[in-house]
Amino acid sequence: MGRSEGRPKIRRIGICTGGGDAPGLNAVIRAAVKTALHLGWEVVGIRRGFDGLFVPGMAKRLGAQDVAGILSMGGTILGTTNRGNPFEYRMKAGKRTIVKDVSGAIVQRVKSLGLDAIAVIGGDGTLAIAKRLADMGVPVVGVPKTIDNDMPGTVVTFGFDTAVSTATDALDKLHSTAQSHQRTMVVEVMGRYAGWIALNAGVAGGADVILIPEIPFDLDVICRKVEERYWRKRNFAIVVAAEGARPTGAGMFTREARETGRQEVLLGGVAEYVAAEIAKRTGRETRSLVLGHLQRGGQPTTFDRLLGTRFGGAAIRLIAEGRFGRMVCLRPPLIDSVPLAEVAIGKPRLVSVECDTILSARNMGVSLGDRIV
Ligand code: F6P
Repeated sequence: MGRSEGRPKIRRIGICTGGGDAPGLNAVIRAAVKTALHLGWEVVGIRRGFDGLFVPGMAKRLGAQDVAGILSMGGTILGTTNRGNPFEYRMKAGKRTIVKDVSGAIVQRVKSLGLDAIAVIGGDGTLAIAKRLADMGVPVVGVPKTIDNDMPGTVVTFGFDTAVSTATDALDKLHSTAQSHQRTMVVEVMGRYAGWIALNAGVAGGADVILIPEIPFDLDVICRKVEERYWRKRNFAIVVAAEGARPTGAGMFTREARETGRQEVLLGGVAEYVAAEIAKRTGRETRSLVLGHLQRGGQPTTFDRLLGTRFGGAAIRLIAEGRFGRMVCLRPPLIDSVPLAEVAIGKPRLVSVECDTILSARNMGVSLGDRIV
């Protein structure tokens, strides 16, 4: 049977963005909406992730005019949240806050809105929810999004390139002030349990030390590298630390316990710790900063706009072909798809400690904070 013979009759689809935002979300929305409208379908924009399928009045028809001019805009015109897990939904019951599974109501709402399919754009947490909804019979396709680049099943996610550019730009700027003051600067970047942003920005931005979660660090090694910079009369040093980087034998630095409805705990604090230890052990003037949400904001790079647009178009093709329960992915040079069951596995895609980027960094004298040189 040819694919066209098995095609479902699609009249109306929904689209939503969940989890933390990432530059390029609007490019995906625009591509998906324009492609769907071109096929004669109606598109419903679901606001604030899965919340928009639970709270009344948060699903609205999207027309061509709604996506005009958004290609280069950061954020998401649909809004998003990293708290709206329908299987663990926090709601008020009188004065109390209760946690309830509202997934059944979501399935009903998809039906009552007349949605023949939903395109869900999100990271591991959001797509794990999408997978559970697919198991309950909702025709879902996924689009991988995250600045962390830790989504299994795809070589890269959109948002990552912009985040790396932002972090690299920050490192360029820090070089001049570090040099002027003969200081050591420790910069904390995002990335959750994976070191993709730290590694790529660290190498592109000429950092002296790069700390990633995949390689636990030793403070003696870091301090030796910092001192070496001063002995060599370079007189300043730049350290990049992924928020998930941790000392050997210790856990990651966290800011608070996991909230109900959120997939993960908030990480943070490693740069402050490393900077204080460097200052204490070497006596060198040291400063730390956290780049934080700057990495998620701003205009998407050309790469992210293009990848977002390719993903958006590919998601609509999956729906047209009735290939539900799948996520679009990049396998250069092609856009392909994988079953959600293979990617929503609760395990991030980590940096391989033997990759060529790490090897090249080590061979240039960059320290990864461990004893290997
Ligand atoms: O997953 C994206 C991400 O930006 C992580 O890099 C970071 O740990 C987390 O989200 C921050 O979450 P929030 O936006 O809730 O502060």
